Amino acid sequence: MRAVKSDLEALAWLDVTELPGLDDLHMPQGIIAEAQKLMAQACGAQESYFLLNGATSGIHALLMCGTTSAKVIIPRHSHRSFWGGLVLSGSSPVWIPGEIQPDLGIALSVKPQTIAQAAAMHRGVEVAWLTSPTYYGTCCDVATVRQLLPPNIALMVDEAHGAHFPFHPLYPHPALRDGAAAVVNGLHKTWPVLTSGACLHLGQSFFGTPERSNWNRSKPPSTQWDLRLKAAYHLLTTTSPSYPLLASIDLARAFMQQEGMRYLERAQSLAAKYKSRLNQIKGIRCYGAELTTFPGVKAVDPLKVVIGLEGIALSGIQMARILRDEYRIEVEVAQPRLIVAMFSLLHDILDWEYFFKSIDNIAETYPANGKAEGIIYSPPRWHMELTPRQAFWAPKRRVKMEESLGRVAGEMVAPYPPGIPCLLPGELITADIIEYIGYLKSTQVNIQGPDDPNLEYILIID
Ligand SMILES: Cc1ncc(COP(=O)(O)O)c(C=O)c1O
Repeated sequence: MRAVKSDLEALAWLDVTELPGLDDLHMPQGIIAEAQKLMAQACGAQESYFLLNGATSGIHALLMCGTTSAKVIIPRHSHRSFWGGLVLSGSSPVWIPGEIQPDLGIALSVKPQTIAQAAAMHRGVEVAWLTSPTYYGTCCDVATVRQLLPPNIALMVDEAHGAHFPFHPLYPHPALRDGAAAVVNGLHKTWPVLTSGACLHLGQSFFGTPERSNWNRSKPPSTQWDLRLKAAYHLLTTTSPSYPLLASIDLARAFMQQEGMRYLERAQSLAAKYKSRLNQIKGIRCYGAELTTFPGVKAVDPLKVVIGLEGIALSGIQMARILRDEYRIEVEVAQPRLIVAMFSLLHDILDWEYFFKSIDNIAETYPANGKAEGIIYSPPRWHMELTPRQAFWAPKRRVKMEESLGRVAGEMVAPYPPGIPCLLPGELITADIIEYIGYLKSTQVNIQGPDDPNLEYILIID
């Protein structure tokens, strides 16, 4: 008990509040204003806002900048936080498909032409979103997307997994540099920042290009966006911000500026060496820079280690369990035919070596006789019947899964991680969806969203 008390006392020393000299996150004029300015300079932004509720709250705030009648282009393989932002903002998504890698059954990118076509087909689009990098480290061609989009459509990027990109030229380009108007970084994912610390960055074009001002002179959207973004940020942010979290963001920014280049250099060279060694293990395939030949993929984050398990008699979920139980390694994602290990810039050669040896041992112990069996399903096509906000407020009831065919879903189904929903509230429940949910259950992946964790029942809109 005494140890717990002294631990709590140590924590309490850090846990201050808006005392004189400690500034106010909701009216920053002192140390927080200065820290946000330093962050903007470090990341090439015009303005940066600290987020204490993860990248999620930045995505929500940016979606709330648009008008409620706005249409927003969003890749369908985006993170579940987009759903929340659409409910809050009331805007309507124009979902677009991602490019699915058939052996792995996952979306790795969006082709620039897909976004440009959606922008040409739909009137009233104010914003187009990309997720770059994906959970698997693949980055879209942000610069080409920006070029192809009309200037009155702002490009925003969920760069939750790419906060480290500005600090070394061998890593993919940060989206702000390639013309994004706004990006959201989940700092806690790739910087040494406490969990849920994140940042929203605004680029030059968020404040309006000459073209965008000409588009509607009487009411420059940029001015409205600026005002609405601030209002949304304050609406979504706690009035009791955690100072330890704020301090970790500021310290990590200084660390990235002072040491980021050196550590990222080491991490990049370790990744290159060990990805090549992993590829020599029989039965597995470690994906890397060759993914840039896949449609829509411009660059790949070296620190995401995507391993396909073609010749191993284990699913990714079983492999992850063995790694956890027998080797004390926690992978980031486990799916039927793959695992993703996420290395940080602070992992050293011993960590990489241990990971390599663990995979090598497992591959040797569980060889497959021939190619891995079983079909890999990709998420089926969606059919949106109600906007997210309409679906959120609609009355719902519970039915047995098999009775839900042809009804409109009242809840989300999202394998987690990566948290990409295969069914959203307001979407039609088709036979393909029911079959896909059955497949997900059979693979034993974690699923978030449904009220019934066994997915025998599902909420439908009444
Ligand atoms: C691509 C992507 N975007 C956004 C988020 C939300 O980030 P956070 O958990 O920091 O709110 C995640 C979380 O995993 C993510 O993977």
